[in-house]
Amino acid sequence: MVSTKMKILAIDDKQDHLVSLKAILDDLVPGIRVIMATNGRKGIALAMMENPDVILLEIGMTGMDGFEVCRQLKDDNTLSMIPVVFLTSLKTDRNSVIKALEAGAEVLLSKPIDEMHMVTLLHSMVRIKESNVRKQKEQERLSDLIQQRTTKLKQESEQRTKAEETLVVTNLKLRKSQSALLNILEDLKQQNIARKQSEERLRELTTHIQEVREEERAEIAQNLHDDLGQKLTALNIDLAWLAARVPVDFPELSDKIDTMHELILDTASRIKEISSKLRPSILDDLGIAAAISWQANEFSNRTDIPCKVSIIPESLTMPSNTATQVFRIVQESLTNIMRHAEASNVVISLIEKQKKWRLRIKDNGDGFMEEELGDKKSFGLSGMEERTKLCNGTFSIKSKPGSGVEIIVEIPISGQ
Ligand SMILES: Nc1ncnc2c1ncn2[C@@H]1O[C@H](COP(=O)(O)OP(=O)(O)OP(=O)(O)O)[C@@H](O)[C@H]1O
Ligand SMILES: [Mg+2]
Repeated sequence: MVSTKMKILAIDDKQDHLVSLKAILDDLVPGIRVIMATNGRKGIALAMMENPDVILLEIGMTGMDGFEVCRQLKDDNTLSMIPVVFLTSLKTDRNSVIKALEAGAEVLLSKPIDEMHMVTLLHSMVRIKESNVRKQKEQERLSDLIQQRTTKLKQESEQRTKAEETLVVTNLKLRKSQSALLNILEDLKQQNIARKQSEERLRELTTHIQEVREEERAEIAQNLHDDLGQKLTALNIDLAWLAARVPVDFPELSDKIDTMHELILDTASRIKEISSKLRPSILDDLGIAAAISWQANEFSNRTDIPCKVSIIPESLTMPSNTATQVFRIVQESLTNIMRHAEASNVVISLIEKQKKWRLRIKDNGDGFMEEELGDKKSFGLSGMEERTKLCNGTFSIKSKPGSGVEIIVEIPISGQ
């Protein structure tokens, strides 16, 4: 039952006591090793070297007594784990028991010793030591663990402090860039306002220029028609007067007068044509529907391309300014078809529906890639768009190579 490797340190200043104790123990516990020390100092030194399982300690020693030896043993961190059994031949009174326990001893045995009782006791003491060692190891393990956790916590806290510092710096930077951004935004806002104002001015200017252009065109058309037209008529009458007075034997003169007459007629027709182009009086006299039909007819006559017009309702009218813009868009579209399309058919429709006018001009010519338009320095299409905007309308153009061009202009009636 008791470990054969049990190691006992017996401390007693009486050599004969030690010898008889050893003899008893050797006899009772097979394989036991008994180490002996004849005073307290040697006993402590041996305990350190040998690390015994139990220390049997005589109280009544000369010099350092058992209590003092026990106190020193229990003060040492390693030695304190070894159970100390006090032996005494003195009569054990209450005081010495208390003193023994205060010094740190586990048990106090009075001589003469009951041998079986001592064996049982030694067995228990070995258990106590094992448990002490286990406890100490556990404590060491725990304190290691605590150390590790403390180090880790410290590292984490350092990292957190660093991160907090970085955060403060970043926040500061962020605040700076935020205010810079706000300044930029404010600048942009001001620029935007300025841009909108200049756009507005530009639009007003464009409207003004368009109006002035239209007025000038109308005036030139009028002057051409009235002034030059009347003078040509007068010239024609004079020529007729002259023709009547040419003697019959001057056929060269008659021929010359005939040629002049033809020239005057031709010039009159050219003047009519030019003044119509500048500002067709039909637009002012008969309105947009008639003007578009007339323009389509002119186009077909000149190009031999059929151009179908449908105006719904037939009685459709619009304010003079809007009519001018719509008419100019039709004119520019037909010019483009003549110049670029290679079309064999054109359809124009102007429909009044759901409080808006919808103008559509479609040809079946070559068409173009919409992306190509950006590269060209041309003003026809952008002019059309600009005119549409002046009427608060929307302009769209659809085209694919080989499938012609379709222009759609939508103008709200209420916005006019
Ligand atoms: N009906 C059409 N069919 C085919 N291509 C067209 C048609 N209309 C316009 N285009 C293409 O779109 C381009 C731009 O037309 P836009 O009227 O803006 O300019 P332009 O006629 O070339 O010059 P301008 O400024 O004298 O009008 C044309 O050069 C032509 O390539
Ligand atoms: Mg053009």
